Amino acid sequence: MLTEKEAEVEIGKQTKPKSQNSETLVGRLVEVNGESFVARLASRGGEFVSERMVGMHKVRIGQVGSYLKVSQHGNDVIVMVEGTWQERDNDGRVEHMIRLSPLGEMEMGGDFRRGVSNYPTSGAELHALSSMQLERIFSDNAEGGYKVGKLSAAKTTDVFFDASKFFGRHAAILGQTGAGKSWTVTSFIQSALRTMPSAHIVIMDMHAEYGDKEMGVAAHSPFPENKVRCLDARDLEVPYWLLSFAELCELFIDEDDPNAAVQQALLRSSLIDLKRETNADADLGQITVDAPVYFGMDDLFQRIKDANKRSSDFGKTKSATFGKFDQLLVRMESLLNDNRYDFLLRPVRRTSTDSLAGLMEDFVGLGGDKKAAVTVLDLSAVPIDVAPMVTAQIARLAFEFNFWNPLCREFPIALVCEEAHEYIPRGDHPRYKQAKRMMERIAKVGRKYGVSLVVVSQRPHDVSETVLAQCGTYVCLRTTNPNDQEYVRAMVPDSAQGVLAAMTSLAPGEVIAMGEGVPVPVRFQVNRPNPPPNSADIDFTKNWRHGGTEIDVKQLVRRWHKQTR
Ligand SMILES: Nc1ncnc2c1ncn2[C@@H]1O[C@H](COP(=O)(O)OP(=O)(O)OP(=O)(O)O)[C@@H](O)[C@H]1O
Ligand SMILES: [Mg+2]
Repeated sequence: MLTEKEAEVEIGKQTKPKSQNSETLVGRLVEVNGESFVARLASRGGEFVSERMVGMHKVRIGQVGSYLKVSQHGNDVIVMVEGTWQERDNDGRVEHMIRLSPLGEMEMGGDFRRGVSNYPTSGAELHALSSMQLERIFSDNAEGGYKVGKLSAAKTTDVFFDASKFFGRHAAILGQTGAGKSWTVTSFIQSALRTMPSAHIVIMDMHAEYGDKEMGVAAHSPFPENKVRCLDARDLEVPYWLLSFAELCELFIDEDDPNAAVQQALLRSSLIDLKRETNADADLGQITVDAPVYFGMDDLFQRIKDANKRSSDFGKTKSATFGKFDQLLVRMESLLNDNRYDFLLRPVRRTSTDSLAGLMEDFVGLGGDKKAAVTVLDLSAVPIDVAPMVTAQIARLAFEFNFWNPLCREFPIALVCEEAHEYIPRGDHPRYKQAKRMMERIAKVGRKYGVSLVVVSQRPHDVSETVLAQCGTYVCLRTTNPNDQEYVRAMVPDSAQGVLAAMTSLAPGEVIAMGEGVPVPVRFQVNRPNPPPNSADIDFTKNWRHGGTEIDVKQLVRRWHKQTR
């Protein structure tokens, strides 16, 4: 071990103040600017010692993403290692250099505070942190008890999130396929339920990973039975009459049709008339074209059909709109006759304006015989062309629920958007316009009404920038695609750039988290979810080696025909 004197002699020829603890002293700063510090590491007999015993623990010095402490005049600044390199001094001796980014300060009592107000100067001492001090930094959020994983650099140190900031300021969970996003979501929610049993979380489950399912081997939801409600989006019935006018146009009218404008005009006037007539007895105030009130789809179809054939003089004079709605009628008819769209266009339960309350209750877990903290909406069977529309309705329901809820501050809702790139894409594809608009609205103003998003995606590059940029906390898993890496890098704060370099080399379930939910940018291993979601990797080797069970292809085709999985 280096004595204080030796350390001071070895480090360089500057004047050195007395070290506070020679056991932990690893070097001294040689350069300081607003964004980063450079230090020269102490070497022993010309040899750099990369491992030190600090207290009972062995600490590796200079590992990218690890933490150190800069001490000067009683001020302690916590820094993160960005990178190391070698230089030669005038005598040709190798010097080990290290670049550090400042994260925050350790106060007198040992508490950690973000941001640096007292910058050190060159010559300041660089110290290794003991596991106690590390714990102190990460125990910043420990009061809430929202424990999510263990530090990669010190496996005994727990990492806590600030749950209010994580869920309250939108979060993004990003990483390539198989990196561990679904497991991470499950683990985070399981942990949230342990400390916050009255949570309100709605998961848009695109691949039936979080719910109960009967297909093949029965699988269960990874969340406690008394806390979760699993709904197939088709049973939930998101009825057509909730769609806004713009969404109905998107569904029924081909923008490229030369008659699109007149079709839209008719659709608008028919909708207003129908909504008003159907709800004439209900005391609903002024009913607009977008009002979420019931009207009959068959009635709408009939009105358009009549307008298409309208003529006068006993059929001799055709009206100006005669035949202009052919395309619209064909499109409506084909959707109405396709049973995949029944949950949207032919609801069984949601056939009156009053049924909206039931839908809202089901949706946030207040319906049924138990209050559910987590509602899993299985969207796996929703046809791909209407999936964005359905997710838009779900987001809209979440937003409207709290927008109109006088107690919204006491009823915060988090909406987990799995595979977000599928319905909140970048760019202006017309099919995604409404879904994107709804999500962006939540991203921008949801915080004020207690509605937040947890955006999960394997293609961050394809997700709306507006939504991602509004996220307060980023949890990044392994990402090797350069476009995605660049995109994430541009999104996150400068102090995290160093640790982000490790993005390509993370293990499954290992993450880099940064932003408001964590005290400092941190690389850690997410606690293994117990039980895991239904997303386990398929064992190709075993199945291909031993052969699987017989497949009933006839039944498989029957399922396909009936659209039941
Ligand atoms: N915290 C963890 N601890 C241990 N293993 C993990 C952890 N997280 C993920 N894994 C492993 O990684 C595999 C893939 O995880 P997961 O299904 O969550 O990936 P994903 O990122 O959601 O992929 P996709 O984008 O295809 O949905 C899991 O089957 C598991 O073996
Ligand atoms: Mg997944």
